[in-house]
Amino acid sequence: MDIAQSTSQPKKVIPKSSSGMDSELSKLGNNLITKFHVLMRITQIYDSKNVALNQFVTEFLDTINTLINREGVLSLKIVKNDFFLNDQPLRYSVEGFTSFKYLLTQWKKRLIGEVTFKTLVEEEMLRYFIYAFINLEEGREENAGLLKKQLESHHITSIEASPLEIVEGEEEAFTIQKEDQREVGKKVFFETIGTIKEVITNIRGNQYADVRKLKRLAQKAIHLVIEDESILLGMTMIKNYDEYTFNHSVNVSIYALAIGKRLGFSKKTLAELGITALLHDIGKSKIPREVLNKPAALDNEEWEMMKKHPLAGVEIVLNLKQLGEINPRMVVGIFDHHLTSDLSGYPKLYRKKEVSLFGRIIQIADAYDAMTTPRIYKKIPFTPEQALAVMLLEKTIHFDPLLLKIFIGLVGIYPIGSLVLLNTREIGIVYKPNSDGRWLDRPTVLVVDRDEKGDPVKEMVDLTETDGGGSYKRSIVKTLDPYKYHIDIAKYFL
Ligand SMILES: [Fe+2]
Ligand SMILES: [Fe+2]
Repeated sequence: MDIAQSTSQPKKVIPKSSSGMDSELSKLGNNLITKFHVLMRITQIYDSKNVALNQFVTEFLDTINTLINREGVLSLKIVKNDFFLNDQPLRYSVEGFTSFKYLLTQWKKRLIGEVTFKTLVEEEMLRYFIYAFINLEEGREENAGLLKKQLESHHITSIEASPLEIVEGEEEAFTIQKEDQREVGKKVFFETIGTIKEVITNIRGNQYADVRKLKRLAQKAIHLVIEDESILLGMTMIKNYDEYTFNHSVNVSIYALAIGKRLGFSKKTLAELGITALLHDIGKSKIPREVLNKPAALDNEEWEMMKKHPLAGVEIVLNLKQLGEINPRMVVGIFDHHLTSDLSGYPKLYRKKEVSLFGRIIQIADAYDAMTTPRIYKKIPFTPEQALAVMLLEKTIHFDPLLLKIFIGLVGIYPIGSLVLLNTREIGIVYKPNSDGRWLDRPTVLVVDRDEKGDPVKEMVDLTETDGGGSYKRSIVKTLDPYKYHIDIAKYFL
């Protein structure tokens, strides 16, 4: 199905950029950041002669030299709020988030913007370098030059550092406060993914799972959703193919919370809904990974196993002591998240049962996230718009029509993350739906086009803006398929 039928072609196709790094390099890059982070922390505790340091120095050294052997040279550079590895943007993994943040902050404080390892490095050099680096005075402009001199005085010429480049007028479309909230949003999002991963892994291994942190994070998410839901909704575009279950749980929870907010739920009910959504598929931790990640259709036996996950989920949740008081609607919500009004869903029931409100909310969130995420058996997912169209077709059997309407109002006619063509022939990404119901077709759009010289343009535009004559400056003509234009939508929400 191609909902975005072509009528006119945009003027240029944006070349593949951030997604261009191969996965092995990306893995090595992430490893480098983590090792750098750990070592920086350790050096603040121990002096340079301490044996406790050896293992960490060796590990960092191995990563550096593996990269130099592979790439010839290794440069790690800050560009705005990202790290670039040998001039290619490095996307961080879920686990790597804390290390990226730490390193970015520490480098920026010391005004160091780039470190280059020109040839293979030896252990002594690295040890000297890391201490010289950590001891640089914060905020001192000459730091890069000073570090260079120190290294040279120790005959180390293969490691170089350059000053941080301050790009003027960065992200001027945002206020400082907005940026802060976005940072908080990122932190909550990635921490929740990490925590749910821990919980699921522990349950899978029949180990004790601590859910108190999950509860705390749900509170933070609720606060953010109440303040400005578009921040967390934008995060749901970060679809992680390898970490499907964890990302999925968090995304479903974000959508569910946003629906709950529209329904006027109290904070207490939102907390219950958020936790229920986070744990809705927890029963899958009892299903073998081979079945969960099977690239082909499930056979009968496997399908029977799969159908047990709602009930298994109920059992697990009832045994999670630290959840505290469990409202029955949380348990019921997990039980009936695959039940349909005509009994065609599962678990199999012999008497008709109305699907609970939590269950109906989760069903919508669940279906939308599943459809818009690439999976091992469906590499190219639906665009947000296509997914909504499919859901509308199935609405009376599978989805509560009223809740679906609320959900569409929430993600907009042009959902967050949609790639759109504007009448100015620019391409943009829907960044934030218009909060005024009259202007659902006029969201805030991040224009990600190229100018005449071919340089990238990134501008946040509000489609309700008019020119002097009272007509709209820009309007959406149609949506485009990001896969055809090689645009990594998620990158713009990080
Ligand atoms: Fe499920
Ligand atoms: Fe699910």
